[in-house]
Amino acid sequence: MLLIWFLLISYTTTTSTSTLRSVNHLAVSQSIRDGETLVSAGGITELGFFSPGNSTRRYLAIWYTNVSPYTVVWVANRNTPLQNNSGVLKLNEKGILELLSPTNGTIWSSNISSKAVNNPVAYLLDSGNFVVKNGHETNENSFLWQSFDYPTDTLMSGMKLGWNIETGLERYLTSWKSVEDPAEGEYTSKIELTGYPQLVRFKGPDIRTRIGSWNGLYLVGYPGPIHETSQKFVINEKEVYYEYDVVARWAFSVYKLTPSGTGQSLYWSSERTTRKIASTGEEDQCENYAFCGANSICNFDGNRPTCECLRGYVPKSPDQWNMSVWSDGCVPRNKSNCKNSYTDGFFTYKHLKLPDTSASRYNKTMNLDECQRSCLTTCSCTAYTNLDIRDGGSGCLLWSNDLVDMRKFSDWGQDLFVRVPASELDHAGHGNIKKKIVEIIVGVIIFGFLICASVFIIRNPWTARKLYNKHFKSKPRKEDGDLPTFNLSVLANATENFSTKNKLGEGGFGPVYKGKLIDGQVLAVKRLSKESGQGLEEFKNEVALIAKLQHRNLVKLLGCCIEGEEKMLIYEYMPNQSLDYFIFDETKRKLLDWHKRFNIISGIARGLLYLHQDSRLRIIHRDLKTSNILLDANFDPKISDFGLARSFLGDQFDAKTNRVAGTYGYIPPEYAARGHFSVKSDVFSYGVILLEIVSGKKNREFSDPQHYNNLLGHAWRLWTEGRALELLDEVLGEQCTLSEIIRCIQIGLLCVQQRPEDRPDMSSVGLFLNGDKLLSKPKVPGFYTEKDVTSEANSSSANHKLCSVNELSITILDAR
Ligand SMILES: *[C@@H]1O[C@H](CO)[C@@H](O)[C@H](O)[C@H]1NC(C)=O
Ligand SMILES: *[C@@H]1O[C@H](CO)[C@@H](O)[C@H](O)[C@H]1NC(C)=O
Ligand SMILES: *[C@@H]1O[C@H](CO)[C@@H](O)[C@H](O)[C@H]1NC(C)=O
Ligand SMILES: *[C@@H]1O[C@H](CO)[C@@H](O)[C@H](O)[C@H]1NC(C)=O
Ligand SMILES: *[C@@H]1O[C@H](CO)[C@@H](O)[C@H](O)[C@H]1NC(C)=O
Ligand SMILES: *[C@@H]1O[C@H](CO)[C@@H](O)[C@H](O)[C@H]1NC(C)=O
Ligand SMILES: *[C@@H]1O[C@H](CO)[C@@H](O)[C@H](O)[C@H]1NC(C)=O
Repeated sequence: MLLIWFLLISYTTTTSTSTLRSVNHLAVSQSIRDGETLVSAGGITELGFFSPGNSTRRYLAIWYTNVSPYTVVWVANRNTPLQNNSGVLKLNEKGILELLSPTNGTIWSSNISSKAVNNPVAYLLDSGNFVVKNGHETNENSFLWQSFDYPTDTLMSGMKLGWNIETGLERYLTSWKSVEDPAEGEYTSKIELTGYPQLVRFKGPDIRTRIGSWNGLYLVGYPGPIHETSQKFVINEKEVYYEYDVVARWAFSVYKLTPSGTGQSLYWSSERTTRKIASTGEEDQCENYAFCGANSICNFDGNRPTCECLRGYVPKSPDQWNMSVWSDGCVPRNKSNCKNSYTDGFFTYKHLKLPDTSASRYNKTMNLDECQRSCLTTCSCTAYTNLDIRDGGSGCLLWSNDLVDMRKFSDWGQDLFVRVPASELDHAGHGNIKKKIVEIIVGVIIFGFLICASVFIIRNPWTARKLYNKHFKSKPRKEDGDLPTFNLSVLANATENFSTKNKLGEGGFGPVYKGKLIDGQVLAVKRLSKESGQGLEEFKNEVALIAKLQHRNLVKLLGCCIEGEEKMLIYEYMPNQSLDYFIFDETKRKLLDWHKRFNIISGIARGLLYLHQDSRLRIIHRDLKTSNILLDANFDPKISDFGLARSFLGDQFDAKTNRVAGTYGYIPPEYAARGHFSVKSDVFSYGVILLEIVSGKKNREFSDPQHYNNLLGHAWRLWTEGRALELLDEVLGEQCTLSEIIRCIQIGLLCVQQRPEDRPDMSSVGLFLNGDKLLSKPKVPGFYTEKDVTSEANSSSANHKLCSVNELSITILDAR
């Protein structure tokens, strides 16, 4: 929309008087008079005298030869014109170029640094750079002086726009006064060094428009000279500059700052006679600097601009705003108080011209996550984004205070993450984020399933046929081959007849023994208690299905044993036992630093997500607790006992059961009181485990002396009082990332909400943990005090006392 093609009518001239003489260099004591020219080696550029438009004044200038229309790219004596064609250009022995007039003497001169000067010569290069160098100089790029250091209104290929920090030299464009007068006009284009460098166009001292900052590919407000050019923006201790280069031979491209203050990209292809002008489109009002005031986004929809406040901001002067007077901009509706800033979230804007970077700071090494964290921990930080959008993005750019001069683009621009206080996050409108996340998740799941399925099928054609039979033939067939069965005698041997010295613990459905086979393999054998609701055949099928659930955060089921009354499940053995063994132990818990704990928290979430969303079987664990989280040698968590509730209690997924499996302290209110369960019941248990991991305290056993709260109530109270960090296990000390801990606590509280519908699902939890999704504000958790538990589930309190000795599970009990 912004690229308008049209033909230029200005900059034509009537000078083409017959040339007397052309030379290709200018040595000391030689001169160039009006009418003579200096031509570059390739004949591409030419230096001589010209008069613009109908003017009769003469200027020393550089232009391209043989292009149409005639286009001047540099003017020497722009402020001191010659009145007639009596001017002479000379090079003196000090290497200084002098433009002499017979009456006024030197009217323009170059000046050079005090480098050793020896037999200087002036050349015009094919690039259009007019240079003075020492005669013996062999280095192509060593100049005593070059016109590229003193641009006029035109940026050419290979010219640096910006700063040499070491010498203080600033190269910038200054417009002509008018098409007939090359004198310095009121517009300038400069690289601003405050904050993250950006290209800014001034009218006098005021910013007229911002071309913007560099995003790795282009200046964010303007994709640049589009034709066969490569652009770069160099920022280091020595230099800060923008440069573009024309890739194609025999093509020219220049960028001009016109007398009216607009930018034009001019382009000649090989014919050199057809010039095209790519106007940059800054003519629309949205290009006017801060047209919409602070904290608001300009959108130009074809014929008029509109301004829209950023999320969480409201017009500063609503009356004026209503009359389309936008310059006052917007102010925060509810300023985030920094005390609770960890509840703040971010709203993503896409295709944006990033705000003025003069109030920004940047870091090239941080990634987007670190960037977000850095923003959250700084009170004044209002937005962040990647510094460089290439290769998925890198670097960090952070804004403080007001965000000024943003506009919406349809086909370029960058993502901006704007900080929004929690109170604004509940407002409707981030539906598109939600929708997108759902889309991504669905996509990932489908993709993952396809990959798994195809790998499965490719690797094992026989299984493929079985799969086909299983799913497409009318009756599922008995598949004995799938799950290895163990002989009872073998297991009895391995566990020394299920001796108590080999007992590892007691899980929800029976005791677990350590076993060692004759070949040395170590196993965990779970001897299931007898009261299963299912027939043998059903049970076996069910277990075979469970064995197919494989995930690195689930304990692997190796086989089963069904003989007579005995049912056993054989699992891989976990050397580090279970989470409760570490996390609640005075000394052992020191082994779990925050990094390990966070890894455990994330691992459980991944395993649970797999159980909840696996497309073939939807498993609700129903007895998730710290003793069911086993730890491998690396302290990676593995969920155990999954699917057992299902095989024991049958396939009643969506509603209600009159038998409750679960453990007090971990079961949600609706389950304890009414037997209602769903994936959200597991989410509740997950939340409890999370808070236990963070605090190193048991929900059931914790009681704060003043308030009789359990751990959930205690966490909630600290949260509301803004002291959430006090929940942190004291052995963790200073080592940890506070924002990550706060985030975890918030996630934990969201997971233990009273109403299942207020709890997030596990896919959201995963996104929360990674910081990829905005967190909402937690409300009061369920089972807040000890009293809640007993009153809500009083009918089962007697049972519970019996069963919860030693933190046993309440395997089966009647809730009514
Ligand atoms: C030059 O003069 C001619 C005739 O006087 C006029 O038509 C034309 O517009 C002038 N050009 C400029 C650039 O002023
Ligand atoms: C040259 O001198 C004359 C009169 O001395 C003056 O009017 C004119 O502006 C001068 N030109 C320059 C370029 O200084
Ligand atoms: C150029 O103008 C100057 C006065 O500014 C005059 O002295 C000189 O003779 C003129 N030269 C020509 C060639 O007209
Ligand atoms: C170089 O010349 C310009 C005018 O042409 C002048 O403004 C500047 O101060 C000079 N720089 C030095 C270092 O002499
Ligand atoms: C702005 O206009 C809308 C309707 O166009 C109106 O509902 C609202 O009250 C107005 N606000 C102010 C502050 O005038
Ligand atoms: C502002 O924040 C406070 C507390 O954070 C909240 O109670 C209030 O509803 C918020 N106001 C608006 C307009 O969102
Ligand atoms: C950028 O961030 C990294 C990692 O946070 C830090 O080590 C480095 O010092 C930062 N660099 C600057 C210039 O601030």
